[in-house]
Amino acid sequence: MRAWQVQDLGEPDEVMRLVEVPDPRPADGEVLVRVDAAALNFPDLLLCRGKYQEKPELPFTPGLEAAGTIVEGPRAGEQVVVAPGLPRGALAGLICVPEADVLPVPEGMPLVKAAAMLTTYHTGWSGLHRRAALQAGETLLVHAGAGGVGSAAIQLGKAAGATVIATAGGPEKVQVCRDLGADVVVDYLAEDFVEVVKEATGGRGADVVYDSVGGDVFDRSRKCIAFEGRILVIGFAGGRIPEVAVNHVLIKNYSVVGLHHGLYRRYEPTLARTIQEDLARLWADGLIDPLIGGEVAMEEAPAALARLGDRGTVGKIVVRPHDA
Ligand SMILES: NC(=O)c1ccc[n+]([C@@H]2O[C@H](COP(=O)([O-])OP(=O)(O)OC[C@H]3O[C@@H](n4cnc5c(N)ncnc54)[C@H](OP(=O)(O)O)[C@@H]3O)[C@@H](O)[C@H]2O)c1
Repeated sequence: MRAWQVQDLGEPDEVMRLVEVPDPRPADGEVLVRVDAAALNFPDLLLCRGKYQEKPELPFTPGLEAAGTIVEGPRAGEQVVVAPGLPRGALAGLICVPEADVLPVPEGMPLVKAAAMLTTYHTGWSGLHRRAALQAGETLLVHAGAGGVGSAAIQLGKAAGATVIATAGGPEKVQVCRDLGADVVVDYLAEDFVEVVKEATGGRGADVVYDSVGGDVFDRSRKCIAFEGRILVIGFAGGRIPEVAVNHVLIKNYSVVGLHHGLYRRYEPTLARTIQEDLARLWADGLIDPLIGGEVAMEEAPAALARLGDRGTVGKIVVRPHDA
């Protein structure tokens, strides 16, 4: 089968190699899955650069999530969603995963969307519900709302009954956030989001901030966080990891809440199934619909990852390993 391998650390188009490797063989308790769709995430880029919290040994195959068909093992023929885990990631023709970890594809959902609904929507669900306890009627501020995690957070926030304010870089992404259902959208490259949030909330501020950008965006978010608000630390796509003065946290009665969604796999392995069931219900009710910014053939994966790192994508980019 074909698989992408990261053979050195660096930029994706320089260090990823498309190689022919023997088909993997499922171990006891595993199933063999044909990958029909593998969705890209910012962490794939960080993994290539050696800047992610996990540092697999070289060479490794990136790709955090996929949807496909079980071709060997119990339930052969079933369509499933999987998070294969490194170093044998999803950017491959076939992957082996424990049968206990495969998740169902929500009824009627195309595999391309199902692949794109694992990392970002599960992160959004655990962030908003488990870590920030978002309540109906609260105001949620989502940064980089046109991106992968951002687009999921806008939809999940609306589905939870929150008023959603989104930020995005540039007019096209602003329109994407509007189309996703955000109530108020700010082009944060052109306008100060702090003032917009204060105005939209009558001076109160946002109850929950979903921050996947970090740096100045995190710093400024502390200026528009509500009394008893929660700032969710999701990621640092902007490059700088911010620091927080805890006296400010004390004075304004807010919380800075971390989320590493992947840790739930270790500490609460059953949570993924609960989340997937709830997401399937939201999909069936028409409340969420993963935004696909593009589908690319296997050969185009490194270029697509480079675009993701250059703010050149919206929603999720999905790789089709078996398309020419
Ligand atoms: N905590 C967790 O468990 C978890 C899980 C998944 C992902 N993440 C993190 O969430 C973040 C977003 O991941 P994603 O896959 O959804 O990516 P993405 O949102 O699709 O892409 C990143 C977005 O960040 C914004 N951005 C701002 N400054 C940027 C810069 N200097 N370079 C690149 N982008 C910049 C861009 O939107 P604008 O152009 O609109 O500014 C860009 O589209 C990443 O940091 C990732 O590691 C965390």
